[in-house]
Amino acid sequence: ALPDISGPGSKKNSTRRDPIDIDTNKTRTTTNLLLPGADLVTEYDRAVETMISTSLKEKYPDYAFHGEETYTPTTPLTNAPTFIIDPIDGTVNFIHNFPHACVSLGFAIEKTPTVGVVYNPSTKTLYSAIKGQGAFKNRDQRLPLRNPEPLTGLSNALLAIEWGSDRSGPNWTVKTRTFEKLGASKEDGGAMVRSFRSLGSAALNICSVAEGVIDLYWEGGCWEWDVCAGWVILNEAGGLVVDGNPGGWEDEVSLDGRRYLVVRGAEEKGQREIVEEFWG
Ligand code: IPD
Repeated sequence: ALPDISGPGSKKNSTRRDPIDIDTNKTRTTTNLLLPGADLVTEYDRAVETMISTSLKEKYPDYAFHGEETYTPTTPLTNAPTFIIDPIDGTVNFIHNFPHACVSLGFAIEKTPTVGVVYNPSTKTLYSAIKGQGAFKNRDQRLPLRNPEPLTGLSNALLAIEWGSDRSGPNWTVKTRTFEKLGASKEDGGAMVRSFRSLGSAALNICSVAEGVIDLYWEGGCWEWDVCAGWVILNEAGGLVVDGNPGGWEDEVSLDGRRYLVVRGAEEKGQREIVEEFWG
């Protein structure tokens, strides 16, 4: 059996359950490694976040603001109506000029994702949704965009996974074992999904599931600002976010739980069956 993704060595028993043993100090180590001495991306990240927060605070002074670049462990997400922002989701792509990064702007009330806007400036693609009012691509195309091939199980599923920036500890073991199991052919005891994609933006992964071009997305280690906006868009398109722990259909999923399994609206097979097949 797979260990719990928040297993020994992680911070499962602390008030904030970190599924991955990352430095919650939010040092952008990826940026530092790739651009030693020239923290350009952090400057862009901060500039975008400042621009967005200044404008939102002016218009909506009563709402809280929770952004990736200004987050500290002493300012956790609360139940207050809160804008939850990732100024650049897909920072590594941004550094590499791989045109797959976005601004992710979410709004949650009592930690329930309620409004979501995700914009990829490279492709000029906009995803948006308000809880109860449907999800849209580029304002006028209702999601899911097309009638996708019915999801009959993992064998015809395209699965988005992410490697994450932390590659250590029990969570790394869970990730690699899960990839191994899902990728192996059935004769070798695996589940063999049709294929994996690892595109480097949590928000765009979720929007792709909402759109119907990816079927599932699993990650432990990303944050509420990576998922909040996409979550509303996904729900409005018939998709679900469930807890990302092995076997976690029954576990309550939380916006700041940092482990998520995202499933598109399935037709022939129920979402629960798909999740159960995922964990095997
Ligand atoms: C990251 C991306 C990436 C995911 C990481 C996130 P960032 O966000 O969404 O796909 O694997 O867990 O932290 O750092 O580019 O905003």
